[in-house]
Amino acid sequence: MQVFTSIHSLRDYLFQNRQQNKTIGFVPTMGALHEGHLSLIKRCKEDNDLAVCSIYVNPTQFNNPEDLKKYPRTPEADQQLLQDAGCDVLFMPADTEMYPAPVNLKMDFGNLETVLEGKFRPGHFNGVGIVVSKLFHMVQPDAAYFGQKDLQQCLVIRRLIQDLSFPVRLLICPTMRESDGLAMSSRNRRLSSAQRTVAPLLYQALEMAHAMLDNDGTIELAKKTVALHLTKSDEVELEYFEVVNTDDLSSFIEGKVQAPYALCIAAFVGGVRLIDNILVE
Ligand code: PAJ
Repeated sequence: MQVFTSIHSLRDYLFQNRQQNKTIGFVPTMGALHEGHLSLIKRCKEDNDLAVCSIYVNPTQFNNPEDLKKYPRTPEADQQLLQDAGCDVLFMPADTEMYPAPVNLKMDFGNLETVLEGKFRPGHFNGVGIVVSKLFHMVQPDAAYFGQKDLQQCLVIRRLIQDLSFPVRLLICPTMRESDGLAMSSRNRRLSSAQRTVAPLLYQALEMAHAMLDNDGTIELAKKTVALHLTKSDEVELEYFEVVNTDDLSSFIEGKVQAPYALCIAAFVGGVRLIDNILVE
């Protein structure tokens, strides 16, 4: 695996590969890699001649400075995992390489960024849009791989690709879970063992709501059930649970719902904020 920290050397290497008509797949990450990330790398490697991964903890997408400071960083372990997964190129830029000067660009994703994560993390998708645009310009991939785990991020990237005419195919890959259903996340490492035990309540609640809506139950009932299920632990605090339209993520408020829809949840487990979703197609 080739490892680059400078944009210039990354570009040089990828240019040579493109000259040989090699296809390039790209998986952007913030590191602290787990099987979820690696599933994207493996899919990327299956589909393309060259699998490129970036690891960069992007400060502009953190609305909470404490969250940025506490974000887990495991660069040595990450490199080994990527090597073992068959990754060809790793790009690990420093802050000065990515942001030589403060960026004042503002991206507006309309309704997509005022709901769910956007509502609770103001400025988050602006930061994601900026860093992913920069990375797309640096890597110039044929295809980019994102996880359904961050469903709203996938829709934002779909808009970004459309709005800025990036010649990139977007592939959305399924959420990898632990055996008890908990969605894999870099943040899970910050859970104490007691918190880890109750963290699967989120996915259980989503499944209960799904079963209920599938059986002609109402959204009101699904919401009550989710809220009640999370009260099983004092450590868990629900931030939102929404039943949303899969096109624009607008919420269905009441009554019954017909597929396609998505169930989206965010909750604090201890001080750790976790998100999850189920897509019903
Ligand atoms: P990060 O949270 O590191 O996630 C990198 C990619 O891995 C994202 O596409 C995310 O959806 C995917 N992913 C995370 N957990 C997953 C799981 N359990 N199963 C499958 N895929 C999973 O998302 C980001 O970084 C950043 O916002 C980034 C796009 C890199 C921009 O900074």
